[in-house]
Amino acid sequence: MPRFAVCLERSALRAESYRCQAPVRLRDAVVTRVEPAGALVGHIAVPGDKSISHRAVLVGALADGETRVVGFGRSADTESTLNAVRALGIQVDELGDDELVVHGAGLRGLHPPEASIDARNAGTLMRLLAGILAGQQGRFELTGDESLRARPMDRVAEPLTRMGARIETTNGLPPIVIEGTDALRAIDYVLPMASAQVKSAILLAGLNAKGTTTVSEPVPTRDHTELMLDAAGARVRRRPNSVSLEAPPRLRLPEVTVPGDFSAAAPFIVAATLLAGSELTIHDLGLNPRRTGLLDVLERMGARISVFNRRKAGGELIGDLEIRSAELTATDVEPEEVPQLVDELPLFALAAAVARGNSHLAGAGELRLKETDRIETVTNGLRALGVRIRPRDDGFDVRGVPARPTGGRMPSDGDHRIAVLAAIAGLVSREGVEVGGADAVAISFPGFFDLLDSVSKR
Ligand code: S3P
Repeated sequence: MPRFAVCLERSALRAESYRCQAPVRLRDAVVTRVEPAGALVGHIAVPGDKSISHRAVLVGALADGETRVVGFGRSADTESTLNAVRALGIQVDELGDDELVVHGAGLRGLHPPEASIDARNAGTLMRLLAGILAGQQGRFELTGDESLRARPMDRVAEPLTRMGARIETTNGLPPIVIEGTDALRAIDYVLPMASAQVKSAILLAGLNAKGTTTVSEPVPTRDHTELMLDAAGARVRRRPNSVSLEAPPRLRLPEVTVPGDFSAAAPFIVAATLLAGSELTIHDLGLNPRRTGLLDVLERMGARISVFNRRKAGGELIGDLEIRSAELTATDVEPEEVPQLVDELPLFALAAAVARGNSHLAGAGELRLKETDRIETVTNGLRALGVRIRPRDDGFDVRGVPARPTGGRMPSDGDHRIAVLAAIAGLVSREGVEVGGADAVAISFPGFFDLLDSVSKR
């Protein structure tokens, strides 16, 4: 195969990718130029929530009978989950781009594939699946791409080993090998870090463990697993900082309606706030309070955001958001707030950069363990655009200047949230931003540039 055989040309935001994508992916090979925009105006909906989409397929695979998933958020990460459950013997019918039927095989119905399962970039998949496979009989190997192979897995291996599974990591990292057992024991586990992925892995293992599994967390994290298992008939008991689950005889989850992904909406919320004259409405958005910390932080900074049409589906809060532009003042994000906006902290940095005054983030050391070390990629990336931001061990300090940052070149390093941050920085900049590795957006939101293009005005 010729080395530079595939040339991806795309037009986005009056911009084009002008380098070819090699058959072997080169980091930051696809460069997209994002020009400054005037305002964001219009009505949009974003794809289904990625966290809930992963869980709907995984829990559907463990349920008895069919699970219809409506509003599935299709992305590279959630495709990895579909591939994984299929490799484990589960039939999934794709009725359309965002509608699926998962034919569950019951709580112990997964079968080891011959080959290892490749989670590619999806940390949520690898950690949640580890919990599920701990209670299935057989030997399973899980691996991932270069980024995922650098992310810690001992955080799930340790509690799952205590439950009775045999798990080998590669010096704490993927690939991991799981020898599942039908003799898992429930545990009472105090999470050493705030992580919904680790909490979920333990709860999912608890589905097949003898006794009551309890997970206590230092700070409440997203609770989609608890809500979905409850909807599927498991006995889930919730307290402010812990959750308990009794192993159920079976799960039934006939339908999951996936709300719009708050993390996919976040770049639009920030851009509409920062671009004068914006008026943007985002419909059918997931507003689970453990995901919407960015709204609280932006409101504190002076943003003008209203929520209407509040309703619930499958235990999840949904609503519509109306965002109008506003001038922002600085704020501090406190450690206990971090899990409520962990994936939106890169965008907070940009909002802080154009707010009046100095903002600080602390207690966010977990950012160093994401798809990239996001304290480094955010601070290096934004500094290159003229933003005054300094890294700290567990966060960053920003000296806000209420004016458009200059712009320049910002690499994504293959991290979807950083590619999105660079694109929004381009919209609000003076001279535009060349986003290196812009194609990383497809990890969570393949249609991101087209949707942005549809509402951005010069
Ligand atoms: C996720 C939990 C968070 C988040 C990730 C998705 C989930 O990770 O950053 O994007 O779906 O449970 P941690 O639980 O490791 O903080």
